[in-house]
Parts: sequence; structure tokens; C-alpha cells
Amino acid sequence: MTTPIAAPRRILLGITGGIAAYKSADLVRRLRQQGAEVQVVMTDAATRFVTPLTFQALSGRPVRYGLWDEAAEAAMGHIELARWADLVLVAPASADFLARLAAGRADDLLATLCLATEAPIWVAPAMNRLMWANAATCANVATLTGRGVQLLGPDCGSQACGETGPGRMLEPAAIVEALHAAEGAGALAGLHVVISAGPTREPLDPVRFISNRSSGKMGFAVAAAARDAGARVTLVSGPVSLPTPAGLRRIDVETAAQMYAAVHGAIGDADIYIGAAAVADYTPTCCASQKIKKTSDCLELSLHKAADILASVSALERRPFTVGFAAETNDVERHALGKLVRKHLDLIAANEVGTDRAFDREDNALLLLWPGGRRQLELKSKADLAREFIALVAERYRETPRCAVSPVPALV
Ligand code: CTP
Repeated sequence: MTTPIAAPRRILLGITGGIAAYKSADLVRRLRQQGAEVQVVMTDAATRFVTPLTFQALSGRPVRYGLWDEAAEAAMGHIELARWADLVLVAPASADFLARLAAGRADDLLATLCLATEAPIWVAPAMNRLMWANAATCANVATLTGRGVQLLGPDCGSQACGETGPGRMLEPAAIVEALHAAEGAGALAGLHVVISAGPTREPLDPVRFISNRSSGKMGFAVAAAARDAGARVTLVSGPVSLPTPAGLRRIDVETAAQMYAAVHGAIGDADIYIGAAAVADYTPTCCASQKIKKTSDCLELSLHKAADILASVSALERRPFTVGFAAETNDVERHALGKLVRKHLDLIAANEVGTDRAFDREDNALLLLWPGGRRQLELKSKADLAREFIALVAERYRETPRCAVSPVPALV
């Protein structure tokens, strides 16, 4: 089950005439997966590219396209529709539509709705690169953004007309991400969150290392959720094969010592630190400069304790709100509580690990513990779990006395 997006929940999706209209089908699907209600409104030109039936099936609502459709108007009049929306998103937005919007025209249903709504308006332009670069379009875009219309893209790349340049509609996934960022302008807005994720590698010789089974998926999901909640995110990552979530700063490291240095390099102005990395507890006393040869039947390794990054952050004089993770095979709550106290944490997220639990899986469950409280987050996808986890981090951050919170800015 997906966590419903907090806002905007009711999205009026305007589709105008352009070949990118076919991508809007995917956009509708993604928005609905996030729990949004989507009402599609098409311009006459849009219906020539994709049939309204496609969007009706995907949105689960009859598509609106005529200003003079009596039956539809009787069900929900255009002014009611304009009020219904939490957000008006026009994707794709053609050059003609931007011009009409800038001119304040009310010559079709979509333009009329845009004029009549109090909801924020976002546009994702899509057109040929020369149309996008044309002075008339530039002036229209400047007028619109000056009035507070939010611009999404356009992207640069190969176009349906065979040319290459700026003018492609932003990919549906990127549009949804941008909405998340705006929606999140709240819980962690204005805060800097440093997150460590993934395993570390402690080299034994030039070709071997000691590591663990962490995939980094949970930490990356937490980083994306923190970004969606409006935070500026620095992600310090051990070696993982995961793409960097858009819009955050990633610092790649290998060893526990490098992670320690990177975290402390980034923590200066951090408000929250989340140690989601599986950091080596022990590291080889020395790393052989050449490959260790198989000369004896038995090989003993000499290891020493690696510095504890989490404990060092919580011991800082100006410490951020400090959150740890505890991956345990047994007595999960007892061990996690021990770490909460021993490392002076504000919150700890514990999970059971074992042969097929947690590592390199798409889902997870977490037990959250803090001084005087606990909450169990049930098994769900790591993305959904991360969102719930971040919501609780924000709540605890606000309720922990020494952490001052900046006022929450209004949504878009
Ligand atoms: N951690 C850290 N630096 C280390 C080791 C761990 O910052 N060198 C952090 C992890 O990122 C995690 C938390 O500490 O947030 C829990 O790590 P864990 O290794 O499980 O805790 P330990 O105190 O080492 O306890 P134990 O080895 O007994 O499980």
C-alpha cells in the first residue's frame, strides 16, 4: 500500500495538444499510485493525440474537455471544478496554451479553469526547441512565472520532430518528484539533513576487503523521503549500485574512516543526522600493499575497532538531532534500546536482519524507539516505510526541546 501524498491530493491535470500527451497517461498512473485523485481536462487539440477514453480508464473519472457539455456541467460545473482542485498541473503545456494562459483567455474549458482557480498552477511545457526559444514564448513564460505559475522543465534532448534541444516535456517520474518536493515543503523544510547509507569496505590488500550485506536501499529511500519532506539532503554513501535520487548532494566513500571524515565534513550546519549506514565495527590493523599470497594453511587477521561515527556525532557540542539504526538478529528491542542509551541518540530505528530479512530487499519493517516512546512501522516497501519514518523524525525533531524549528513555509 502506498502512503497517500499529503498535498496536493486533488490534481486537475490539463492536457494540451502535443505528441508528449501520450506521456501524460503514465503521469496519471503515477499520480494515482501516490494516492492522488486526478481529474483530466483536455483541450480539443489534445484529444487528437490521445483519446479521452484512455485517460478516463486511467484516472477512473470521466474526462472533461468541452466548455459547453451540459451533462458534465450539471455534474460538476467548471467553477466547482476550479475550486475542487488542490493543484492544476498542465502537462504537456503547448506554446499555444502558454500564450492563451499568459493572455488570460477563457476560450476553452482548461483556460477557463486556470483563470477561475485559486489553486497553484504548474506547467510542463513541451514543444519544438525553436518554438521554446522564440521571443514570444519567452515573454509568455516570463509573464506566467511572474504571476507565480510554476514551471516544470522543459527537458533537453531529442524531439519528436527529429531535432535536438530544449523543449521536451519533463519525464512523468520527474514531474511527480517535483510535486513531492513541493508537497513536502513542510515537515523538514529549511533543514539540512545528513544521511549515511550503504556498507563500508575495509581493505585487506589491493584486491580484498571486509564488508557486509547492506545494499543501501533503505538509506537511499530515507534520503529521498527527507528530500521530499523539503530538506536539503547530503547523502554520504558507501559502495552501492544505486542511482542518486534527484536533487540531493551525494558524497561517495569506501571505508569507515572516509565515511567518518565525510560525515564530519558535512555535519557543521546539519539539523538532523541519520546514520543508516552499516559501518564496519572493526577494520584491519594494516592493509597489505601487495596481494596476500596463499602461503600458509591458516591466516589470522588483526583488526581494530573503527571509530563510531554515530556516537561521535551525538557527542558534538552543537549536536544535530541524531538518529541511529540497529540491525539485529535477535532481541531486537533490547539491543536497540541499549544503543539508544549508549550512543545518546534522539531516536533509533531497529529492524531484524537474518538470512532473508531486510538486506537487499524491497520491503522492510522498523521498530522506532526514542526516550519515552516507541512505534512499530509494519512491513511495507522501503519507499513507503522511509516516508513514514521521516514523518516521525520530523515529529520527534519538533518535539525535542533543544531543537528549534523554523516556521513552515506555505505550499508553493
Ligand atoms: N555506526 C557508526 N559507526 C560505526 C558503527 C556503527 O556510525 N563504526 C552506526 C550505524 O550507522 C548505526 C548504528 O551505529 O546507525 C548501529 O550500529 P551497530 O554496529 O549495530 O552498533 P554497535 O554499537 O556497534 O553495536 P553491536 O556491534 O553490539 O551491534
